[in-house]
Amino acid sequence: MRVISVVGARPQFVKLAPIARAMAGHAEHLVVHTGQHYDERMSDVFFQDLGIAQPDVNLAVGSGKHGAQTGAMLAGLEPVFEQSRPDWVLVYGDTNSTIAAALAAVKLHIPVAHLEAGLRSFNRRMPEEHNRVLTDHAADLLLAPTDVAMRHLAHEGLADRSVLVGDVMTDVLHEVRDRVLASGTPLPEGVERGRYRVATLHRPDNTDDPVRLAAILDQLASLDLPVLLAVHPRLRSLAASHGLELERGAIRPIEPLPYPELVAAVMGSAGVVTDSGGLQKEAFLLRVLCTTVRPETEWVETVELGWNQLVSERLDQLAAAVQRPTPAETDAAPYGDGTAAAAVVETLVERRR
Ligand code: UD1
Repeated sequence: MRVISVVGARPQFVKLAPIARAMAGHAEHLVVHTGQHYDERMSDVFFQDLGIAQPDVNLAVGSGKHGAQTGAMLAGLEPVFEQSRPDWVLVYGDTNSTIAAALAAVKLHIPVAHLEAGLRSFNRRMPEEHNRVLTDHAADLLLAPTDVAMRHLAHEGLADRSVLVGDVMTDVLHEVRDRVLASGTPLPEGVERGRYRVATLHRPDNTDDPVRLAAILDQLASLDLPVLLAVHPRLRSLAASHGLELERGAIRPIEPLPYPELVAAVMGSAGVVTDSGGLQKEAFLLRVLCTTVRPETEWVETVELGWNQLVSERLDQLAAAVQRPTPAETDAAPYGDGTAAAAVVETLVERRR
């Protein structure tokens, strides 16, 4: 069996790590990097730290408006797929790299498998929502991480193409958490265990409007503990163009963190403030309190179990939400037990045409 994984953005490199390991001995596995993320700290360090081989192909598409970026990926992927004729193209969800690869492959009648299938925010302002809905409907095999995702797929008439495999993010997080505990990966400089918080912001709805971004930064600045704000390049460039200073009050801007350092930082923190999907789940899996600056989340289990709170309209209440008490412990495991990558490979083998 030959499988081509198409990745392009930071969270996809994380998910690729357990998949690449699980493929060994079962498939010839080729990795195509679209080049959507290209900064060393957004891309290369993930391959190094997570022990992933260099991509077989890098399309180096880079940044651009949605149409131009997605179009360049389509044009770049088509000849790669035509030449290699894999049994599966595996796409990793959410991003322009995912929709481009799914579309390029189905047009060539190459089967497409969608990891993270069935996620829905029901917010059609998000580019990820268009990408994931369209990819689910184009793909041949829908690899769902949760029961909730399976239900969404069934509602859209896609039950017969859907398989519950669990969440590969759990696989990689468990592994890195154990490594961090064993090696004593240090906390970021200048903070004391349990006496700081970790924040990230990159969603266009939060970064692109200067008034909204300023209101979020003001709330973070007013918190009772230092906030390590790991700055995504989108945030850095938009804050600069809005004339907003990131370093203020409690906020300590830092560069984006490599994955093991991020995990160590979250584990040692008093809480997380984010608009990232992955980080909401990582905080939950590490049982760290999370506050999400979005009107809705795909990871509804984190909210239902009390470990995540959404704040969007009433930004004046963000600081109070962040400083809320920790909820009751839970041993719920809605994101699987850390064996999702093996289930993915098994399903690809079984369903190969
Ligand atoms: C993308 C995904 C989003 C995912 C996120 C993870 C889409 C539509 N969005 O959003 O689902 O949660 O990745 O981070 O695919 N930039 C750099 N260097 C880089 C990468 C980006 O400077 O290595 C800058 C560029 O100015 C670029 C901007 O960041 O225009 C945004 O990057 P882009 O990949 O378009 O979207 P993200 O916001 O990262």
